[in-house]
Amino acid sequence: MKDDITKYQKLVDECLKAALPVQTGHFKVLYEAMSYSLSAGGKRIRPVLMQLAYEAVGGDEDISAYLCAIEMIHTYSLIHDDLPAMDNDDIRRGKPTNHIVFGEATAILAGDALLTEAFHYMLEDAIKYGAINRVSAACILAKASGAKGMIAGQILDMASENKEIDLITLEEIHLHKTGALIAAATKMGGILGKGSSKEVEALENYGRYIGKAFQVIDDILDEISTDKELGKPIKSDQKNHKNTYLSFYTVEECYQRANDLTNKALDSLEMIKGNTVLLKEIAIELINRRN
Ligand code: IPE
Ligand code: IPE
Ligand code: MG
Ligand code: MG
Ligand code: MG
Repeated sequence: MKDDITKYQKLVDECLKAALPVQTGHFKVLYEAMSYSLSAGGKRIRPVLMQLAYEAVGGDEDISAYLCAIEMIHTYSLIHDDLPAMDNDDIRRGKPTNHIVFGEATAILAGDALLTEAFHYMLEDAIKYGAINRVSAACILAKASGAKGMIAGQILDMASENKEIDLITLEEIHLHKTGALIAAATKMGGILGKGSSKEVEALENYGRYIGKAFQVIDDILDEISTDKELGKPIKSDQKNHKNTYLSFYTVEECYQRANDLTNKALDSLEMIKGNTVLLKEIAIELINRRN
């Protein structure tokens, strides 16, 4: 990632560190399991996008509760996604997966705790500010993570294993399992920064397009990368008989599709008067990413 984007990743890392202090006593293991996955690295794309969207509409206050919340929810989704009952993967963010280190039961609970703490942080913050736009941001994240968002995508993803599905169904999976959280990130940034309804809509559209492109690249990398470079096992999709973009298109065609989606994302930003330089840069970097 470019230097200026790395700065935003560092900001997110600092917020996360402050949000999960080291615990001793009875609950030590729970916090260790939560911190293990949260601090294992990761690109921090969702909170970085949220902060950039926030700044693009002129936001200049502290939204760290929301940055932490979306990364906590994303991390919980990865812990659960890797479980034996789901994708059954052993490596994540370059380290053994949570259940390999802490056992399945603790991994499930660490995921549950990250999900729930996310809402705790956001609502505590919204109460402190007494601000309805902050409550709205939490509501957007609730919808995007739940039965109408990410979980809907995950269930359809699993139900489609070992089956032939059409491209429309695959896109439905992608839009939910990956696009929902990414679009929520940029929409929340707009809402938290008190953007106009047109700006919020533009940011959400931008997020939806890059969210779709993001999963196309994730599918490609699962096939052509290496475990080391990717930080997670390649060929996981093949192992689980998943439908992916490569079930329909060649690698080159997939990259073309990701480019088209990214161009649409860039077009969506046109109506925003604030600074969208980094939002544009990150969209392009995400296509060329190697992990
Ligand atoms: C992986 O997300 C899961 C998907 C939704 C494709 P990321 O590629 O953002 O994973 P990290 O956070 O960088 O580990
Ligand atoms: C997972 O999609 C999406 C979520 C965790 C919600 P994948 O199963 O393709 O993600 P990776 O490839 O394991 O990161
Ligand atoms: Mg999965
Ligand atoms: Mg997976
Ligand atoms: Mg994948």
